[in-house]
Amino acid sequence: MNSNCFVMGHPDNLLFVIFGASGDLTQRKLIPAIYSLRAQKLMPDRYTILGIGRTVMESDEFRRRMKDSIIRFSEKKEISDEILNEFTDKLSYLVLDSSSEEEIDKLRIILEKTAKEYSICGNCIFYMATPPEMYKIIAVNLAKAGLGKQLGCFRRFVFEKPFGYDLESSEILNRTLHELIDEGQIYRIDHYLGKETVQNLLVMRFSNGIFEPLWNRNYVDRIEITSAENMGVENRGNYYDSTGALRDMVQNHLLQMVGLTAMEPPSSLDANAIRNEVLKVLQSLQPVREEEVGEQVIRGQYTGSRIRGECVTGYRDEKGVNSNSKTETFVAIKFYINNWRWGGVPFYIRTGKRLPTRVTEIVIHFKSTPHHLFQKESGKLTGNQLIVRIQPDEGILFKFDMKEPGSGFNVKNVAMDFHYKDLADIRVPSAYERLLYDVMIGDPTLFSRDDEIETAWKFIEPVQSAWANNSGIKIYGYPAGTWGPEHANDLFGDESITWRYPCKNMADEELYCEL
Ligand code: BG6
Repeated sequence: MNSNCFVMGHPDNLLFVIFGASGDLTQRKLIPAIYSLRAQKLMPDRYTILGIGRTVMESDEFRRRMKDSIIRFSEKKEISDEILNEFTDKLSYLVLDSSSEEEIDKLRIILEKTAKEYSICGNCIFYMATPPEMYKIIAVNLAKAGLGKQLGCFRRFVFEKPFGYDLESSEILNRTLHELIDEGQIYRIDHYLGKETVQNLLVMRFSNGIFEPLWNRNYVDRIEITSAENMGVENRGNYYDSTGALRDMVQNHLLQMVGLTAMEPPSSLDANAIRNEVLKVLQSLQPVREEEVGEQVIRGQYTGSRIRGECVTGYRDEKGVNSNSKTETFVAIKFYINNWRWGGVPFYIRTGKRLPTRVTEIVIHFKSTPHHLFQKESGKLTGNQLIVRIQPDEGILFKFDMKEPGSGFNVKNVAMDFHYKDLADIRVPSAYERLLYDVMIGDPTLFSRDDEIETAWKFIEPVQSAWANNSGIKIYGYPAGTWGPEHANDLFGDESITWRYPCKNMADEELYCEL
């Protein structure tokens, strides 16, 4: 195995079953990730991948489509005709209505036959890449067909997000699943947890002694987390219009990042030790009360604009979106964490589509000195910031003040940086590669547990219900290609403070940088 691979145990032989195989996720993420694992020799010795969908198509056509997507979405240097042909030979496709009990029973027979044919024991991974409303019925049908039983083999069920639509539906879904299978068989995907740089938060915080003493209310002024995208809703208008940024990004990806940023050191790297600490953070989130939502939560929706001379469609004119839609494509929230470490430190999180650039980062703003001796070059107090860049230009940036050469004591804010790309030999695996591999070897560390998911929904619930019940709460339009509604800056309650406006390059910061 070369230095480009992540080195771990070898997975057991298995049957990989993907529901929703004709969809975007399968083509763009799942199949290219599994191919990449194969290219790194990380797939089991014997395996097959069965795609299931309602779209009528022959296995040959499915193989052809998947080959195209591997070529399109994988790293060029991983593509080899030999591996590609060998890999696609393992794919097949079945037209099947997974909401039907009888049809899933047919699937059972097919799986038993396939397992015999390829000398694979009964290990199965069932991946739900379907619309979320299908999760329950598919799981019920699989269990009724006896496919949830682990008799001398494993049966793992992987669920994409969103897991539920709100607190109640996620509780019902968890309850139903627990009646059918064990929690240990359930893998709830939050692909942000599969990102190397998100995991690196743990290493940065808990492998370095210098951060811990500063990582608390005594030295931290505020924490800002941004996950911005420059793309619009693309061809997911239908899904997105009934979901919105709060459910699509905040309930899962952003709150998980809050958890990893704010958690206490776990006692070990055991899956439950880490998840227990994240859970404690989520349990300590001070709920934004319904009557505070108008002030503490800013929502927006992109409107049409011109970017670099090109017309960009507004959200309401996107395919699949209701022309009067009030679905938010931007959301910014201010909240507190009620515990000893973070009491009184405001957390600001924001996410949005059609913002100026694609960037995800965590910014720790440290408190300034108690007395300002020196004159700042810009007159503005920037102070110390630690920026953990999740993507792109992955790395860490530390900002601090230095004396400008020359007379007097003019101070300039400068930066020290580490870029992942400088670890020249290391290839950063995609989030899905890492997560799919973990499902195969049965490591649940980077998957959300039932209680984490429900606690996150609990935090989101008052916002959902305030938006649903109080028509007076505004949804601001923002031109595509800008940083969302200006009101998002009101959350700071201090005109001298704004969000950081990050650029593609970690060190750059500009309101109008790149589009
Ligand atoms: C997904 C959301 O979970 O994350 C998408 O459903 C979003 O709407 C995507 O575009 C962002 O992921 P990434 O990895 O590109 O930041």
